[in-house]
Amino acid sequence: MRYAKISQVAHYVPSQVITNDDLSQIMDTSDEWITSRTGIKKRHITKDESTADLASQVAKQLLEKSSLEPSSIDFILVATVTPDSTMPSTAAKVQASIGAINAFSFDLSAACSGFIFALSTAEKFIRSGIYQKGLVIGAETFSKIVDWTDRRTAVLFGDGAGGVLLETADEVHFLAESLHSDGSRGDGLTSGIVGLNSPFSVVEENLPYVIMDGRAIFDFTVRDVSKSITEIMRTTGVTADTIDYFLLHQANIRILDKMARKVGINRDKFLANMMEYGNTCAASIPILLSESVDKGIIALDGTQVILLSGFGGGLTWGSLIVRI
Ligand code: ACO
Repeated sequence: MRYAKISQVAHYVPSQVITNDDLSQIMDTSDEWITSRTGIKKRHITKDESTADLASQVAKQLLEKSSLEPSSIDFILVATVTPDSTMPSTAAKVQASIGAINAFSFDLSAACSGFIFALSTAEKFIRSGIYQKGLVIGAETFSKIVDWTDRRTAVLFGDGAGGVLLETADEVHFLAESLHSDGSRGDGLTSGIVGLNSPFSVVEENLPYVIMDGRAIFDFTVRDVSKSITEIMRTTGVTADTIDYFLLHQANIRILDKMARKVGINRDKFLANMMEYGNTCAASIPILLSESVDKGIIALDGTQVILLSGFGGGLTWGSLIVRI
């Protein structure tokens, strides 16, 4: 039997840092409001790097850290809702930039759950026995789809990328998964709406920017995502004691506080870095994972168990329990 394991992690963010005070210069907001409602203090915003540039930096780091030739990579998956183009995909651009000549590549769109859905997909590719090595990357430049005149959304997001190298393993590392969608509630968080525009159609409006019902999304995460985390632990018999750390999508510190209480987990086990990066959508979980490895919190030696959980537009949500 063949299994998959995360054998390397990396992240990359643009160097330009925008603080809450910087934002208060261009819109009617304050450090006090943003910090108390979200926990976010700053975010990294790209000056001239694209989503593919950020993802490519992660891919290069993953190859360097693991001393692998680009030609040894079998596939590249990029989770993103902010691609630079719909054709070619971000993943195809990454493949070209690192010279992974034997890899197939595609993007996966599941908003802030994108990395979880992509990692789950990639794990099946490895487990099929057909592929041995894959890069799974979450990358976003949300700054290009945020309406910078809308203080209700503009303060929340940041740009960045993170990813993992997935390889074959002799023992099981992916212990459990639970993936969900509810398209009937999709209107609560939208972006990139492309209207019909042919001489033969009823011409529709384009709505490129993020539009969010913040309350509805807050309630969804606390109710549905907490329930799904509780269920995945119950059905797989994994207790909170068995899980070393919970790495949840980094949207809002209050969501983490409430979820920890609801699921009945010691809040210290919920890692957080949205203070530094804001909400980077599909990139947030791999950035947190990579940073936690850099800080020595996660050892990447197969001795710890973590729960990864993403949630966001779609609506989508999903969790994986992984030995790492
Ligand atoms: N600065 C100052 N005031 C603001 C700002 C701001 N940036 N944004 C909104 N306000 C004002 C509003 O205008 C409103 O004023 P009013 O009462 O005079 O009308 C007041 O603050 C309260 O607004 P609410 O939207 O009710 O604020 P709330 O307490 O709900 O917090 C927030 C908003 C932070 C977005 C919250 O709803 C939230 O965290 N929702 C979760 C959504 C989320 O994190 N989404 C990220 C993307 S989805 C995802 O990743 C899962």
